[in-house]
Amino acid sequence: MDAQTPVTILGFAGSLRRASFNRALLRAAAEAAPATMQIRIFDLAPVPLYNADIEAEGDPDGVKAFKAAIAAAEGVLMVTPEYNHGVPAVMKNAVDWASRPPKGAVLDRKPVGIIGASPGVTGSARGQSQLRQAFEFTNSYAMPQPELLVFRAHEKFDAEGRLVDDATRERLAAWLVAFEAWVRRLS
Ligand code: FNR
Repeated sequence: MDAQTPVTILGFAGSLRRASFNRALLRAAAEAAPATMQIRIFDLAPVPLYNADIEAEGDPDGVKAFKAAIAAAEGVLMVTPEYNHGVPAVMKNAVDWASRPPKGAVLDRKPVGIIGASPGVTGSARGQSQLRQAFEFTNSYAMPQPELLVFRAHEKFDAEGRLVDDATRERLAAWLVAFEAWVRRLS
């Protein structure tokens, strides 16, 4: 890939909540991305719960759009909350749809970046770790390091969901540079 051509990234957050810190973090990532990286945001609201009966009748429109958006991107950015020390259903459900059918799935050999935010002190660490396990089966290239754990998220975003913490902004910018290099190496 030409180093001047921007890498294309499909980003989605595993929360449907309007004031979600993870959706806010994804927006901040899209804004902070280097000029050589374009992050398109996909909203998971139209992706229904996975059901093999529905899948057998043909992917619903929301799933078709989701899979097509992943296929069109060179890398995928997943911004995950943590629920009960694990990955929330909204995020896992999206990964499950994108893993189907197992042969030729859009996640196969796709570079993946995982970040996340939580009001707690662990900053979604366990949610991120659990999400990472899925990529052993989907054969996706999840970037191992650096990590980005946005802890005490309620102190890092303002009421409009803007990232207002300078240290987090710097860590996010450094993470994006590393992710771009990861995607370019593997595309
Ligand atoms: C949570 N939350 C939470 N936080 C955390 O750090 N570790 C956890 O295990 C949990 N568990 C948990 C379970 C359930 C069911 C809910 C609803 C919440 C708090 C969670 O991090 C917080 O609600 C975030 O704001 C969720 O992310 P968004 O929606 O802001 O992106």
